Amino acid sequence: MDGNGRWAKARGLDRVKGHIEGVESVRACIEAAVEKGIEYLSVYAFSEENWNRPQEEVIALMELMMQSMKNEFRTFMDNHVRFMVLGNRARLSENLNRTIDEMMEATSVEYKTTLILFLSYSGKWDILQAMKKAQAQLSPEAFQAMELADFDQYLVTAGIPDPDLLIRTSGELRISNYLLWQTAYTEFYFTDILWPDFRKPQFFEALEEYARRDRRYGKVK
Ligand code: FPP
Repeated sequence: MDGNGRWAKARGLDRVKGHIEGVESVRACIEAAVEKGIEYLSVYAFSEENWNRPQEEVIALMELMMQSMKNEFRTFMDNHVRFMVLGNRARLSENLNRTIDEMMEATSVEYKTTLILFLSYSGKWDILQAMKKAQAQLSPEAFQAMELADFDQYLVTAGIPDPDLLIRTSGELRISNYLLWQTAYTEFYFTDILWPDFRKPQFFEALEEYARRDRRYGKVK
């Protein structure tokens, strides 16, 4: 969800105003995903590296996460959206973790679409924590015998399908430590549009482009 800061700067506004406007884009994309029957929509809201931003921005972002979750609760319930947070939750405040737990529990019934908020997440962190978890749970022999497909269950995304499409806004052409393991065969879509300007029409355009892709998974068709 890149470009919130630049969107705000272009209007002479504080960066946080860009993030606030960015939440509107998240809502528009949730509605678009529900409309299209998309089962999983993930947003990369805060990376492990984002903790290194200026303290005021980190505090403002955490506050915004908390407020937005509470504000969007009705949108989630009305649209049968299950809300999930994945990432290094040990770094989040007790208060935020409590709100997340409450929201995850309340929305985990009769859902059609799952919204995953990646918070304090990084792909390398995920792979490392998965490796440690697997080693702690398995005998040395079973750990050594582990196959590629067995590894998925130790990642924080266990049980969730790998993404079909990854959209990155604002003209950045990087993965920035997002779902490194899970995006091995994901289709990438890059756009110059800044995240606060990425709404339903832009989302549908990305889906149309995805529909034109030919996915071969390294095979010959
Ligand atoms: C990247 O733009 C955006 C973020 C680091 C934060 C995005 C978070 C939200 C929109 C909150 C979503 C929360 C909920 C609960 C729906 P940037 O700051 O890197 O912008 P720049 O690249 O222009 O500097």
